[in-house]
Amino acid sequence: MVNGNLKLAIQKKGRLSDKSLELLKNCGIDIDDVYSERLIVTARNFNLDLLFLRDDDIPEYVQDGVADVGIVGEDVILEKQADITLVEKLGFGRCRLMIAGPEEKLPKTIQDISGKTIATSYPNILKGYLKENSLEAKIIEISGSVEITPSLGVADLICDIVSTGTTLMMNKLYKSFNVFDSESVLIANNALSVNAEKSIILNDLKSRISSVLSAKKSKYLMMNIPKQSLERITELLPSLKSPTVLHLADETSLAVHAVIPSDQVWTIMNDLKESGATGILLLPIENMIA
Ligand code: PRP
Ligand code: ZN
Repeated sequence: MVNGNLKLAIQKKGRLSDKSLELLKNCGIDIDDVYSERLIVTARNFNLDLLFLRDDDIPEYVQDGVADVGIVGEDVILEKQADITLVEKLGFGRCRLMIAGPEEKLPKTIQDISGKTIATSYPNILKGYLKENSLEAKIIEISGSVEITPSLGVADLICDIVSTGTTLMMNKLYKSFNVFDSESVLIANNALSVNAEKSIILNDLKSRISSVLSAKKSKYLMMNIPKQSLERITELLPSLKSPTVLHLADETSLAVHAVIPSDQVWTIMNDLKESGATGILLLPIENMIA
């Protein structure tokens, strides 16, 4: 498809698919929801073509310029050793690459890994890990469904991505050593900056992503307070800007609105209540432009 649109590769089916689409939606980009059936979908209101691919293929497609940019895990980038530009971390898709196995095969110390057979889709990262720890194990490279190899007798252990832990639990496998921590990132083809038109689209996308990410770090707090508590409550609020104070029909109370960091919400909640705050509402912020 040669239409000047920025081509963004995302995972077709897996842990990152929904989150990637949700990020784009929060950026105000409209995508037809018949995407699951198609390889390429053009956004309705943004110069963007979405390519739905296996996540493991994304680094190479971006490196070769089949896609201009991609959303993929740091784990896959490290494994594939692709020559791409890291644009930014996206704050989702956090997971760990771990050694795991059935209870009876689980290594008690890291040395117990030596001599074992380990199935993985991440042979390069695993090789590095074994070398770093002076371990010798046999690696079996498998491209999918690594979790079933111990029960088939193909491998003693696996080295695979653990996110919620559901896959391990369903296969009666247990976590062992941690090999690599990963999250989703936005990557770009190294030569993209030479293309002025596409760079403009990418910059627009990047600034939309930044506002979505900073919005996630904040919450919109609304509450009613007794007039005499205003000073105390203003002190308690960790807001960057001065809170908004509104008069109510009931002249003994005020309404206070403030944007506060999400991670501090619960540490101030009790103090707010003790200072007389009532009707406390906490709202998510979809987008924070400036
Ligand atoms: C990884 C991994 C497991 C799953 C683990 O797959 O291979 O299947 O995620 O997640 P859980 O702990 O939440 O169950 P991935 O999304 O990378 O897809 P792929 O195996 O098709 O590459
Ligand atoms: Zn994968």
